[in-house]
Amino acid sequence: MNILVTGGAGFIGSNFIRYMLERYPDDRMVNLDKLTYAGNLENLKDVAAHPRYQFVHGDICDAAMVQASLKRNEIDIVVHFAAESHVDRSIMGASECVRTNVLGTSVLLEAAKESKLTKFIHVSTDEVYGSLGSEGRFSESTPLHPNSPYAASKASADLLVLAYHHTFGLPVVVTRCSNNYGPYQFPEKFIPLMIVNALNDKPLPVYGDGSNVRDWIHVLDHCAAIDTVLHTGRIGSVYNIGGNSERKNLDVAKRILQSLAKPESLLAFVKDRPGHDRRYAMDSSKIEDELRWRPRMSFEEGLVETISWYQQHADWWQRIVNGEYKDYYKAMYEGR
Ligand code: NAD
Ligand code: TYD
Repeated sequence: MNILVTGGAGFIGSNFIRYMLERYPDDRMVNLDKLTYAGNLENLKDVAAHPRYQFVHGDICDAAMVQASLKRNEIDIVVHFAAESHVDRSIMGASECVRTNVLGTSVLLEAAKESKLTKFIHVSTDEVYGSLGSEGRFSESTPLHPNSPYAASKASADLLVLAYHHTFGLPVVVTRCSNNYGPYQFPEKFIPLMIVNALNDKPLPVYGDGSNVRDWIHVLDHCAAIDTVLHTGRIGSVYNIGGNSERKNLDVAKRILQSLAKPESLLAFVKDRPGHDRRYAMDSSKIEDELRWRPRMSFEEGLVETISWYQQHADWWQRIVNGEYKDYYKAMYEGR
């Protein structure tokens, strides 16, 4: 099969491409990525010359380029990761987020409509459902109630994708996953930001009182779920993917400090994120019962492994934090 991965130079996309190349000797992976601040070809350095891997530098909003890529590479399946993926950046300014996540998805769908795809997998998020109180979990039938510009743009894209199935019979599947962590995650997101700051003996900025809850999943468990959906997911369906690992942010930050033998005095409680969702938790029983997927990595084991990956790949994240990231960090955290 010829598989087009959009956003393959980012965190989850790069892990997915490596995962698929290792497992499927007959599949070809084409990575279409704009290389924004979050896209990094270093994430795929080890497979750059792989005979079944190809990189295409391009923007998913460029209709002619997207159409040509699908045609030229005789693409059978699209796995759509490309997005502006950070809530805080979407709060600072939403236009890029709306452009890529909504317009970009609609451009891909139009191109997909004219091609002979067997599946279009749209990679979405639990954030489309909004925020939970202390009880309950999101199921696929929970009404969409996105709260941040990022979440609203992803929910819009989900609806477009499902509308293209209903109206044009496009063979779509939507996956909605909880918070990922693992190797190659850009250090603007919570877990890598805490690890990198702890390694640098810098304060760990915890929003509010640190009692917001996220349901963490290791990125390779997410990749395995998408692989399962790619092979056996029902066309027209939505699948929730969760890690069954709800943790309070403060507990995660403390655990990171403990693992690195750093003092809790590095914790810095800062002004809360506007509109901060309180709690996310996924009910993944549909994908577990129907497709027999389950998360395998325990959070404690995965976190230790991830911390050690960042310790061993200091050159990777130092190049990032010493670049334009400095300006972002200043704008987001200075005087907060
Ligand atoms: P990321 O920010 O690490 O990577 C995004 C990639 O998309 C980058 O390589 C970037 O260059 C590329 N990109 C951005 N705009 C583009 C454009 N216009 N054209 C082509 N490429 C473009 O993101 P991630 O964390 O790997 O997330 C991937 C997907 O998974 C996103 O759709 C996100 O909404 C979804 N998701 C992420 C999480 C998570 O915890 N990170 C959880 C659930 C769902
Ligand atoms: P994040 O990784 O941005 O993911 P999302 O907001 O999409 O869930 O944040 C995870 C949680 O960590 C969220 O509750 C916000 C919180 N957070 C902090 O407390 N400090 C930080 O510096 C960041 C980036 C996030």
